[in-house]
Amino acid sequence: MEFGRFPVLLRRELAKGVIELWITCPNAVNAAPGQFVGILCEGMPLRRPLSICRTDERNHAFCVVFEVRGAGTQWLAARGKGELLDVLGPLGSGFDLSGCESKSAVFVGGGIGAPPLLAAAQRFGSRADVLLGFRTAASVILLRDFAGTGAHVFIATDDGSAGHRGLVTELLGARLDRAPCDIVYACGPKPMLSAAAEIAAAHGVRCQVSLEERMACGVGACLCCASKIRDASGGEHYRHVCKDGPVFEADQVVF
Ligand SMILES: Cc1cc2nc3c(=O)[nH]c(=O)nc-3n(C[C@H](O)[C@H](O)[C@H](O)COP(=O)(O)OP(=O)(O)OC[C@H]3O[C@@H](n4cnc5c(N)ncnc54)[C@H](O)[C@@H]3O)c2cc1C
Ligand code: FES
Repeated sequence: MEFGRFPVLLRRELAKGVIELWITCPNAVNAAPGQFVGILCEGMPLRRPLSICRTDERNHAFCVVFEVRGAGTQWLAARGKGELLDVLGPLGSGFDLSGCESKSAVFVGGGIGAPPLLAAAQRFGSRADVLLGFRTAASVILLRDFAGTGAHVFIATDDGSAGHRGLVTELLGARLDRAPCDIVYACGPKPMLSAAAEIAAAHGVRCQVSLEERMACGVGACLCCASKIRDASGGEHYRHVCKDGPVFEADQVVF
């Protein structure tokens, strides 16, 4: 883990209020899928945590894809090529991808929970099914990028304007009813993660989820991001999402 000031290489708007920023940063190129960075936004003392969506070894760069939510992401969205960003990372522990060269996986992403899954899906290639849920067709992002990994990609939207009309977890249930898989990875809003965990458990499939909590230090030094996690004997403890996660075994998370 290192920090420093690194230049923006590229900025693109993927959908209304959803920005992709590529940042030249040799430290983050070897990040594991599911890890994140903390970016300092002007006038704000606390770094904003953003998942590393993917890396580009040739250009020594990584990208984050984020939704403008408040002052920090609004400031970040206005950065352009060449501007320097104060970046700390890579942080946290990513997805367990052991066996990805032979195992099959189903990825479940809800909205802005889709980008953190891209690099992991890439490792599985055509042995991955990717299920992505969005509000409407206009908010669909990274469709071509996921398809480019070789994965089979399916979309759900709340209003039916693209793909299945309804919840992305309905696609997960139908997928697991049809055929088993070795593991499910999920990232998105908590109710979606909880439903994905339940569906995977009902089908006897291991599931890993990436949790989002408000963060302060980002490195395990405060208690801001504490989340209740169950151990093997059923005892419940608080763990740091920033340091022990953000990825956890779904059956250990107390939703
Ligand atoms: C490990 C991790 C990875 C993340 N990866 C991404 C990503 O790849 N793309 C992305 O768009 N967002 C991601 N987030 C969420 C992102 O960090 C917040 O949206 C951002 O910090 C908001 O900052 P802000 O100053 O714009 O908004 P603020 O003014 O701080 O808050 C605006 C709204 O966002 C909510 N919010 C703030 N921080 C968080 C948080 N950490 N988690 C959930 N909600 C929050 C607040 O409750 C409030 O409703 C991630 C969060 C974590 C913990
Ligand atoms: S944000 Fe400080 S311990 Fe996680």
